Amino acid sequence: MADESFWGDESPAVQGVLHWVAERVARSSDPKTTARPESELVAAAGPAVTPDGIGWQAALDVFDRVLIPATRAQDDPMNLAYIPAAPTRSAIAFDFATSAANIFAGIWEAGAGAIHAENEALSWIVDLLGWPDSAGGTFVSGGTMGNLSALVTARDTIRERRGGTPDGGWLLACTSDAHSSILGAANALDVGVVEVQQDERGHLTADALRPVLAENPNTFAVVASAGTTNAGVIDDLADVAAACMEAGVWLHVDGAYGGAALAAASVRSRFAGIELADSFIVDPHKWFFAPYDCCALLYRDPRTARAAHSQHASYLDQIDREAWNPSDYATQLTRRARGLPFWFSLAVHGTDKYRAAVEHTLSIARDVAAGIEAMPHLELVKHPELSVLLFRRRGWNTADYQAWSQAAALDGSILCVPTTWRGQTVLRLAFTNPDTESRRVLDVLDAMR
Ligand SMILES: Cc1ncc(COP(=O)(O)O)c(C=O)c1O
Repeated sequence: MADESFWGDESPAVQGVLHWVAERVARSSDPKTTARPESELVAAAGPAVTPDGIGWQAALDVFDRVLIPATRAQDDPMNLAYIPAAPTRSAIAFDFATSAANIFAGIWEAGAGAIHAENEALSWIVDLLGWPDSAGGTFVSGGTMGNLSALVTARDTIRERRGGTPDGGWLLACTSDAHSSILGAANALDVGVVEVQQDERGHLTADALRPVLAENPNTFAVVASAGTTNAGVIDDLADVAAACMEAGVWLHVDGAYGGAALAAASVRSRFAGIELADSFIVDPHKWFFAPYDCCALLYRDPRTARAAHSQHASYLDQIDREAWNPSDYATQLTRRARGLPFWFSLAVHGTDKYRAAVEHTLSIARDVAAGIEAMPHLELVKHPELSVLLFRRRGWNTADYQAWSQAAALDGSILCVPTTWRGQTVLRLAFTNPDTESRRVLDVLDAMR
């Protein structure tokens, strides 16, 4: 490293950090949740951002000794809370390479090589969707940004098609199980939300949707779920798509969690109709084994997104608008090439291995579901459509669930948090890690007697 840099010789810091990185990637994680109160962290970490700095060794020491132990291990095989993550080692390692290359991946001119690779990874998802080769999009930070960007495109496209904003403003339609980020997007777009009732399986159906669309002609988009977060439910996509086409409404499918299961032959038929959606998201940082933060946002007709998202300014006039500029497809301009770790991991392992990994995760969920059914003290609430399980401990109330969940998190045996289903507290397990062993999970559940 050049001594003459304004910053002096940073090579010891670089070597020190790389050494930490190599150790961390090789080491298995500790599943104990160890969030600490801010006051404790202040005392334990001490000030680091000071006029003179504290130096790389002291800063790395605070990070290793105080800060990292106060974060949750998202990739531990016994972390089955919320939506955990299970990036491959290759994907994590390539995140360093992506950072080291420091690519501006907002426009083709600056990031062509990286964008080409990202688009290759997106093409694989386009194939899984059964969309035409002309489909495409970009990677954004997460499902929240993906949903928002897709709905901006939806609103602009339908407004253009219908010749303006209707009196009373726009509406979007979804069930109450649509992810909370959909309400956030509606709020950001200043559009109303009309709720459609699910059927007894928790699905959005065309029978429930059609009258809602007829009564609410200002609806510009329907948001369907391809794997609800709470229960892993896939809406009736083919029927919903038909109802959307009849009404001239955009169909956005949120597959942030469940979209990865498009790769699994055993459940692919449940996604029938997804080929008719207008936009789609899936988070590779959820169940496609990529590190944070990574959401694939796709449009069946990317021209709609370009019309909605392209930024224009005198200093941007030189941009080649014929080229694939990722900033044209979402609410973003500067962006890191966050799809590269996913691309690298796909290239290392191959798409067949990816299919097998998702399939294996589904089989872990099924094994645990069968084990729960065989335990008299437990009750499976719902057979899993994907890899989320809901179950009850007979005789327990909400306080019992919370106490058990917190004790298990502290002793590190399992991360499993309660949720509600049909107004009742239940326990929820979400499987996204092919290294989770069903036997270990069942042993912990057996001890709930
Ligand atoms: C179905 C669904 N949509 C959207 C999101 C939001 O994704 P993110 O947390 O990456 O913003 C989630 C997160 O769990 C999700 O499960």
